[in-house]
Amino acid sequence: MTALQRLLGIDLPIIQAPMAGVQVSALAVAVSNAGGLGSLPCAMLTADVMQRELAAIRAQTDKPFNVNFFCHVPPTPSEERQARWHEALAPYFTEFGIDPATIASGPGRMPFTAAAADLLAEFKPPIVSFHFGLPSAELMIRLRSWGAKIIASATTVTEARWLEAHGVDAVIAQGNEAGGHRGNFLSSDLTTQVGIADAKGVQAALSLGATAAQIGTAFLLCPEATTSALHREALKSEAATHTALTNVFTGRPARGIVNRIMRELGPISAATPEFPLATAAIGPLRAAAATCGGRKAWKQRLFAAMVRSEFHWMQRDRRSSADA
Ligand SMILES: Cc1cc2nc3c(=O)[nH]c(=O)nc-3n(C[C@H](O)[C@H](O)[C@H](O)COP(=O)(O)O)c2cc1C
Repeated sequence: MTALQRLLGIDLPIIQAPMAGVQVSALAVAVSNAGGLGSLPCAMLTADVMQRELAAIRAQTDKPFNVNFFCHVPPTPSEERQARWHEALAPYFTEFGIDPATIASGPGRMPFTAAAADLLAEFKPPIVSFHFGLPSAELMIRLRSWGAKIIASATTVTEARWLEAHGVDAVIAQGNEAGGHRGNFLSSDLTTQVGIADAKGVQAALSLGATAAQIGTAFLLCPEATTSALHREALKSEAATHTALTNVFTGRPARGIVNRIMRELGPISAATPEFPLATAAIGPLRAAAATCGGRKAWKQRLFAAMVRSEFHWMQRDRRSSADA
């Protein structure tokens, strides 16, 4: 048993990475009940949903679980940058019949707040993790008041040391190959100096001195994840072997499967507003693509079924003419 397993009270040295937008409590419960550390990502949840999901976890497991938050500084919206972003996306809005006037302008992703800490106090999660730095010392003291262990992501040695100096119980070393947002917070330098190799590297990471591995992408195809059908298709296809760091989805570099908008506008675009303000305009395009992609996949399946049934009839015809 590693030191981190003892600290977190888990049987397996595996942390299921919190993944905002593709999972809620079901995946966290399944992983915690299996002996790893299940995580609930809260960056995209309203207070009501967070309450419901925390209650669902408490009702379905008595094992340790982790609740995760972002710690970014919310940007001041800039009309000029918003206009530049909408201009860059204009051809896509036209292609998918989206009226830019209908696009909401909210941030879509929230940092940890005192209100969230109040809500957590009701559920006393044993572990709380952070991405993009740490909250104020005052909020950290609140979390510690019920004995929560605090862990956070680092992408460089400087960030790892900073987290240690600010009293975290463990540092999550995010490698360059990690899916999702880079957790950098002390600089925008994307060079990685710490990190485990990849999912296959869990064993290697442990033998190199890590005390557990946090794995995200490998959980995206689990039935408990809320990953969309189109995203699942992409993850199972050859396309999944081509990933890049892109800011076009949120305004911050995140690793994703290379797709059309990444190829055409990025992968890194100067036109995006600050994180997370790029997400609002991407939302309707994501929804439209899921519908079109879903329809295309449905047509392909129908075509394949027709070919199969045609083949079946041809076989029958051939058999019956042979019998005759
Ligand atoms: C779809 C997706 C969403 C993510 N969302 C979050 C999040 O909300 N909070 C967080 O701390 N990390 C998030 N991450 C990053 C993970 O914590 C972790 O660094 C990464 O998944 C590990 O690499 P792997 O996906 O190759 O296993 C996300 C990763 C993915 C793939």
